[in-house]
Amino acid sequence: MKSLCSRNYRRTAQFAALAALTALLAAAPPPLAAQFGPKSAPPTGAWMNKSLSADERADLVMKQLSLQEKIALLHGTGFPGLGPVSPEQIHSNGGAGYVPGIPRLGIPAIQMADAAYGVTRSGTNGRYSTALPDDLAGAATWDVDGAYTYGTLIGRELRAQGYSMSLGGGVNLTREPRDGRTFEYMGEDPVLAGTMDGSVMKGLQAQHIIGDVKHYALNDQESGRNAVNANISKRAMRESDLLAFQIALRVSDAQAVMCSYNRVNGTYACENKYLLTDALKHDFKFPGFVLSDWGGTHSTEKASAAGLDNEEPGDIFYGAPLLKAAQSGAVPMAQIDDHVHRILRAEFASGLFDDPVKKSVVDVEAGNRIAQHLAENSIVLLRNEHAQLPLDASKVHSIAVIGSHADIAMLSGGGSAQVDPPGGNAVAPPGHKDTEWQGHTWFPDSPLQALQAAAPEVKFSYDAGTDASSAATAAKSADVAIVFAQQWESEGMDLDTLTLPENQDAIVSAVAAANPHTIVVLETGSPVTMPWVDQVSGVLESWYSGSRGATAVANILFGEVNPSAKLPLTFPKSDADLPHPMLIHPPKESDLDFTDPDILKKVTEGLPAFQTYYDEGLKVGYKWYDAEKKEVLFPFGFGLSYTTYEYSGLKVEPGRGADGKMTVSFTIKNAGDRAGAEVGEVYASLPASANEPPKRLIGFTKVRLAPGESKEVTISVDPEYLSVFNEAKDAMEIVPGDYTIRVGGSSKELPLEKTVSLN
Ligand code: BGC
Repeated sequence: MKSLCSRNYRRTAQFAALAALTALLAAAPPPLAAQFGPKSAPPTGAWMNKSLSADERADLVMKQLSLQEKIALLHGTGFPGLGPVSPEQIHSNGGAGYVPGIPRLGIPAIQMADAAYGVTRSGTNGRYSTALPDDLAGAATWDVDGAYTYGTLIGRELRAQGYSMSLGGGVNLTREPRDGRTFEYMGEDPVLAGTMDGSVMKGLQAQHIIGDVKHYALNDQESGRNAVNANISKRAMRESDLLAFQIALRVSDAQAVMCSYNRVNGTYACENKYLLTDALKHDFKFPGFVLSDWGGTHSTEKASAAGLDNEEPGDIFYGAPLLKAAQSGAVPMAQIDDHVHRILRAEFASGLFDDPVKKSVVDVEAGNRIAQHLAENSIVLLRNEHAQLPLDASKVHSIAVIGSHADIAMLSGGGSAQVDPPGGNAVAPPGHKDTEWQGHTWFPDSPLQALQAAAPEVKFSYDAGTDASSAATAAKSADVAIVFAQQWESEGMDLDTLTLPENQDAIVSAVAAANPHTIVVLETGSPVTMPWVDQVSGVLESWYSGSRGATAVANILFGEVNPSAKLPLTFPKSDADLPHPMLIHPPKESDLDFTDPDILKKVTEGLPAFQTYYDEGLKVGYKWYDAEKKEVLFPFGFGLSYTTYEYSGLKVEPGRGADGKMTVSFTIKNAGDRAGAEVGEVYASLPASANEPPKRLIGFTKVRLAPGESKEVTISVDPEYLSVFNEAKDAMEIVPGDYTIRVGGSSKELPLEKTVSLN
């Protein structure tokens, strides 16, 4: 596990643990394997009646379980290198988590795999999976149908590989853009992130895979994530961070939530009653189960009472100690039953009983087509001076491609989300092609070749971009220079700064000084600063673009595809403009002594708290820059196209109907001569008495339009998106007064405006 990880430790410990496992297996009595093994008898029994609800079916099968069997459903079987590993681990499918089934009743095992932007550990397990553009890129499409396709593909490949549960679904809001997992999340706004993540999870659940939304909650930086105590008001979390989870769960009906490593307001997330029971299970009416992040459980009785249903990856607190606590009455039987009910219910509701997982061959070609389509929809055109783009292959004779191994590869995001590239890491020292925990992993997807294929008549050259004068010389001798610039990030670390690493700013500046037709293609997981922005004529943000990112980039540069993505987070001008200009690093996990045999014990017992104050409160992302009147480099919701759009005809119906929903209608026209897709964004400014940041996103839609075509769209707004959280009443409420509704194509360009009264 990565939480407690230094990778070297992990590797050594894995070997030790495997040796221990082998010894244990040799000694294990056969009946155990038979009882908990993977081969379930064809399910029979009253609970197989499909006309009953998931809850009824869960109750029926639960009646058949012994206490020992119940407890066995409430924890995993261990993870080599992270504490004790049980003999049943032998039946794991090779993913990060495994909860054995109960064959005598036909209860399926839960085989869990990390799958944020594709199924992980495929290389390790001798399999293959597609890498989609990262999750942040998914959010940049602002396309809920695309997000559904994203989830469908991952669900299909999970099933093909023999998994029944995804550990993807990251929806933590970007409070801190230097968070090393920003690429695994869906940006800074709860309505966008929740809707998009929900749509991904909905697609996944439809493949009869248990969807998991994570990391609940406020796990917004990686440094010292086991030590951080996030201090934040209830109002700020309910209107921002928790709202994203609430929306994602409502949209998707995902059946699992993973609680995070950190503490929130003094209590670990995985034993935090306010988070797990009061908000999630009570207020959000979440019927599924909560599992802990890997090693994130810290107690038995407290965690169980708070609402943690399943300990992962092992059984330190929810194995023998929970059995004992149940037998003594220290944990009431009703509580155990609730945990068990939720897990069984999740299995029924997700279709694991009725449509058991069957391994099959991954459709590589279909995966690539979908990955490319999603990448083309996710790449944001940030700058296009003098209509430099799209490039016209009949007019451009030579192009210098510079930097970031663009001759052979494109970058991906690391940590437990890392998808294995086919053939191994494309840029690795000879003999070390394996993907490494926190190693820069490059996909064998060559932008140079993709560009050559898009424009065979153009002469291309390549310069490594490691030396400014050589890069400038290459740029000078070509009609156009395309610089690929990268910023790698991963779970288990944060960025110190949003400045591009490895002297890349100087390289871009030198190239731009040498060639007025310089285009920068970014491969980053977070926003970056751009001191050179005024010197270049084009900027594309391609994120970590997955298995077919290079072709997608080439198609956008040469106009085969009209860009339609918008930023899911703000690009600030500098670190100094962030709510916390200096990222304060608590002791890093890599500073922990992993040779200490008691390290797991120390971490699970609890490291001393490191206080982090989210005192920007409600002002997350653009809400911060708006409220503080700070200029930004590129605003939330911004993205250019090769055509132009016009907005007109705003109508706002405050909504007094049965569902109480406000409706907002307007017309978008494609005023240019190219087909395209535009994201219409709707924001609300609340009455002054609500004491809110200047505006918030309350809805959006993506519309495809032929040249000259107009469409009227109608968005119905959930009342919660217009509400504030009243701490005294412990409830969301609409503040009576005037609401100004603004509509347009970016948070900073909202040509339509109408004020309505709500009371
Ligand atoms: C990560 C989770 C992941 C789990 C299993 C943890 O370290 O924080 O996101 O699902 O490991 O790999």
